[in-house]
Amino acid sequence: MTTRIAILASGAGTNAQALIAAGARGKLGDASVVALVSDRPGARALALADAAGIESVFVDPALWRTSGGKVLDRAAYGEVLVAELQARAVDLVCLAGFMRILSAGFIAAFDGRVLNIHPALLPAFPGAHAVADTLAWGAKVSGTTVHFTDEAVDHGPIIAQECVPVLDGDDEASLHERIKAVEHRLYPEVVRLVVEDRVRREGRRVTVAAPAAATAAPVAGFPR
Ligand code: GRF
Repeated sequence: MTTRIAILASGAGTNAQALIAAGARGKLGDASVVALVSDRPGARALALADAAGIESVFVDPALWRTSGGKVLDRAAYGEVLVAELQARAVDLVCLAGFMRILSAGFIAAFDGRVLNIHPALLPAFPGAHAVADTLAWGAKVSGTTVHFTDEAVDHGPIIAQECVPVLDGDDEASLHERIKAVEHRLYPEVVRLVVEDRVRREGRRVTVAAPAAATAAPVAGFPR
């Protein structure tokens, strides 16, 4: 059955664009990107989705504020997001620069079906300023991490990571650009593995199973 993917993005949307392009080329396996959801009305990611013929949905966080403070706001906003995604029968959620912490209710509703990409080698440098923090610390190696999302920020089990060296002349923009170049290849690859149901979780440990063809019984007359 075709996996229905929603991308959640707040900003430039270059990772969203990479996922949409991969989907259009059939590189995500039996999957279809059915919606791009943003919490920012002018997000470039929304325009990219429109241009690609993908439904774009702005879910306004301001509409769902309650007087109870931040945690309630998050829960209420999470409920609205869940409703929007369920209305589109979404199976898999890909966070791609979504700058909002998801509610516990959201994570429970899509248990094990929310992926995130982060521009650092987690658990080093979590949070919204990972690239600046990497440079400020003087780290020599950075990279990117694709992981399952849980209730804590940049915390869930890691599926894949790749290194990107920090160069002497780097500033935040140059390092982030090289990290994004890797992300644009890695994220679609990981999404495909998830779509193909090859990603296994055991606690924090994640492994990738061989493709189905390699484990299938040999066909008579076709030695392997
Ligand atoms: C990416 O570097 C991603 O790792 C992080 O936010 C950035 C989003 O960039 N979560 P873009 O909007 O996909 O260009």
